[in-house]
Amino acid sequence: MPPPDRQITEAVSPADFRRALGHYPTGVAVVTACRTDGDPLAMVVGTFTSVSLDPPLVGFLPSLTSTTWPDIRATGGFCVNVLGADQEQVCRAFASKAPDRFTAHTDGGPGNPRLTSAVLRVDCDIFQVLPAGDHEMVLGAVRRIEVAEEPGLPLLFLRGGYGAPHLASIQAESAGLADQLRLADLIRPEAESISRDLGLECLVTAPADDSIVVLAAAGIGSETRRSTTRVGTTFPLAAPFGPLFVAWAAEAERKAWLTRGQTLTGITDRSLAVAQLAAVRELGYGITTGREAADHFERVVTGMEEPAAIAEFLTALERRGPEPGLHRPVEKLTDVTSMHVPVRDATGQVVLALHLIGFTGQETPGRLRACLDRLRSGGRSADALLSRSSHDDGA
Ligand SMILES: Cc1cc2nc3c(=O)[nH]c(=O)nc-3n(C[C@H](O)[C@H](O)[C@H](O)COP(=O)(O)O)c2cc1C
Repeated sequence: MPPPDRQITEAVSPADFRRALGHYPTGVAVVTACRTDGDPLAMVVGTFTSVSLDPPLVGFLPSLTSTTWPDIRATGGFCVNVLGADQEQVCRAFASKAPDRFTAHTDGGPGNPRLTSAVLRVDCDIFQVLPAGDHEMVLGAVRRIEVAEEPGLPLLFLRGGYGAPHLASIQAESAGLADQLRLADLIRPEAESISRDLGLECLVTAPADDSIVVLAAAGIGSETRRSTTRVGTTFPLAAPFGPLFVAWAAEAERKAWLTRGQTLTGITDRSLAVAQLAAVRELGYGITTGREAADHFERVVTGMEEPAAIAEFLTALERRGPEPGLHRPVEKLTDVTSMHVPVRDATGQVVLALHLIGFTGQETPGRLRACLDRLRSGGRSADALLSRSSHDDGA
């Protein structure tokens, strides 16, 4: 007996096949090429896929009925333009062969047409064309890849309709951060759970060289989103910023943090930053208050101000004096803007931090206490996840 919640089809007709496989989402790409006489060519495909790393190959499947594919094939190469979530109209223009599709939606340079604001462009030489039923499987040897400076989300095609992915969290991908990313991935479920429980955003950060980098963000898709902090954002690990990463570190690291701050701000009296480190060490967490400072920080990290603004921000932070969040019980605080806890690996070293952001400033004392308690219990769970994984690695 088939399970009652499944529809089983054994003699699969093309219509059944199309309907059933429509449940599998694809991206949408426009494959372009340029005839020797300069005429542009393009076809929309949902079958673009990555095929091989070494050699780098990509593929797509043109139908044997396609009139454009033979012309693209004759050029010996093609450019795959992966469409962004806001480019549904561009897709429709190419699918319907709108007369102005090339002038309206491409950069207009020579060679294979390049679609404006494509998330990704991959230039290829045709490597192999394999028979594949009523389609052909085209393999392209990758010659060049272009990723948009700030790639948006890709356009998706599912069950005959267009959409955009909804990501509860996004993982940063950056060279040299492999270890930190692996750790961040381990504790990501905890960040997502904290974010869900509290309806706030929860970031995972790590120290990397002399910087702090945002590796994952949970709750960023929520409608209540208030901050503009992005995954991949980096900020100097310099006093008085990021005390969690040095509060329990060796003296040399604490000194380096203080010195970096001094170099950036020119403030030689380090007593305030030293006191802040001591307070964080004693509390086991950090809290920041003051909407103005938080807004200033967001402007700096979202690049709306010049690099020199980092020094200016650190100076302003230090000039403000002791952070009330580190010296008063959480119930007595007003205008809380963020809460922070360290995450330790099996050796007890602080390797990551969890940050709660997105406060409105209108929280009641009880709500503030509940947020801090939940974040701290999340920090302990994250510690346990990292310890467990290191035991698993050693087994
Ligand atoms: C979202 C979407 C995905 C498509 N995917 C493919 C595909 O993978 N292969 C293909 O041959 N045609 C695909 N098509 C249809 C082609 O875009 C095009 O309509 C078809 O190749 C006929 O046009 P032509 O004769 O100019 O090639 C897709 C169309 C849409 C709208």
